[in-house]
Amino acid sequence: AEGMFTYDPGFVSTAACESSITFIDGQKGVLLHRGYPIDQLAKSSNYIELCYLLLFGELPSDEEYDKFAQLISNHTMVHEQIVNFFKGFRRDAHPMAILCGVVGGLAAFYHDNLNITNEKERYVSAVRLIAKMPTLAAMCHKYNIGQPFMYPRNDLSYGENFLYMMFGNPCEEYKINPVFAKAMDTIFMLHADHEQNASTSTVRLAGSTGANPFACISAGIAALWGPAHGGANEAVLAMLDEIGEESEENIQRFIDKAKDKEDPFKLMGFGHRVYRNFDPRAKVMKETCDEVLEQLGMADDPQLKIAKRLEQIALEDEYFIERKLYPNVDFYSGIILKAIGIPTNMFTVIFAMSRTIGWISHWNEMIAGGHRIGRPRQLYTGHPQRDYPAK
Ligand code: SDX
Repeated sequence: AEGMFTYDPGFVSTAACESSITFIDGQKGVLLHRGYPIDQLAKSSNYIELCYLLLFGELPSDEEYDKFAQLISNHTMVHEQIVNFFKGFRRDAHPMAILCGVVGGLAAFYHDNLNITNEKERYVSAVRLIAKMPTLAAMCHKYNIGQPFMYPRNDLSYGENFLYMMFGNPCEEYKINPVFAKAMDTIFMLHADHEQNASTSTVRLAGSTGANPFACISAGIAALWGPAHGGANEAVLAMLDEIGEESEENIQRFIDKAKDKEDPFKLMGFGHRVYRNFDPRAKVMKETCDEVLEQLGMADDPQLKIAKRLEQIALEDEYFIERKLYPNVDFYSGIILKAIGIPTNMFTVIFAMSRTIGWISHWNEMIAGGHRIGRPRQLYTGHPQRDYPAK
């Protein structure tokens, strides 16, 4: 009722919206997108098809798929003036900081004539975002390493094009490894949407004011960056680096550190607000990791061994069992990305790219469905009223 409210810090028990996009059963470890289980999608679908499914609610026919994929290809380039925006950043700026800025900057290009109450215009905004994110993400990396930006190639698939823009250069031909492209597509799919996580809730809250969708996505990117959320994939690799030598002693030291309540350290890539059972994405990610490293002749990778042993020790430890803490989607993703040659500071950027479809699908659902401005209440703990001292 108006005027009455419950206190729920961290939104543990508050549903802020209705949504028909994604379903999670945290007790059973189930994740469905529009009703389809994530493991089936990861095995048999592809990222572009999943984007269509999330946005429109149904799988596309062959014809609809081709049209959608073509439309995305048509929008991959970014305005040349965006290049000038990049040049204002320090050379060594974190790519997430750059991405946050440049995606927000897109609002300046698509604002004055954008009518978000029009379904078609919302659709074009979604297509623009899905298409331009890989271009912008790869530009963040190229800017960091001082190489020229690569224009997108529309004859390539979404994942191939991203790898080409990341690793290609104008001086020589870049041969795309199909194992890498397939692994990228799986990583994109596993990160595509996850109902009301912190970044999606941020996009919804920003969008509830009627703000420009490109600016709302930039807010989502900011929320994703933290190590408790999307920044965890980068933090997992930092943790594995820190563990260093693969030894029981080193691994146990990190487990003990994570259990120590005096120490703020958490086992990165472990735990989840909703899953109290295995994160189904983590299972697929682990399998993909094994496949990719096997195919690359890297099955003996020392960091993969450390990760597996770390997982095993944690899953047998009373502390983790009692609290139902399991590996999440990002425990193994970084090992795959590293094997592909992606620098660690780009891991969260790749999460942001993949999640853009989830963010914009939720934004679209909210705007289409009619909504009120998001406006949480608070429990005031400050001073009671007092008089300003007489002068
Ligand atoms: C993502 O929400 C989503 O859907 C997110 C996501 C998505 O797709 O959008 O799935 C993506 O963000 C994955 C999560 C990535 N983050 C990490 O891997 C960082 C490490 N994990 C944690 O910080 C933590 O588990 C969270 C942030 C993921 C969840 O936090 P909660 O729900 O607030 O859980 P909690 O902190 O209340 O934990 C409950 C207990 C606590 O102990 P007690 O106070 O009860 O003694 O478990 C402990 C926590 O201290 N705990 C951990 C731990 N995670 C929780 N202890 C050691 N290591 C950990 N990783």
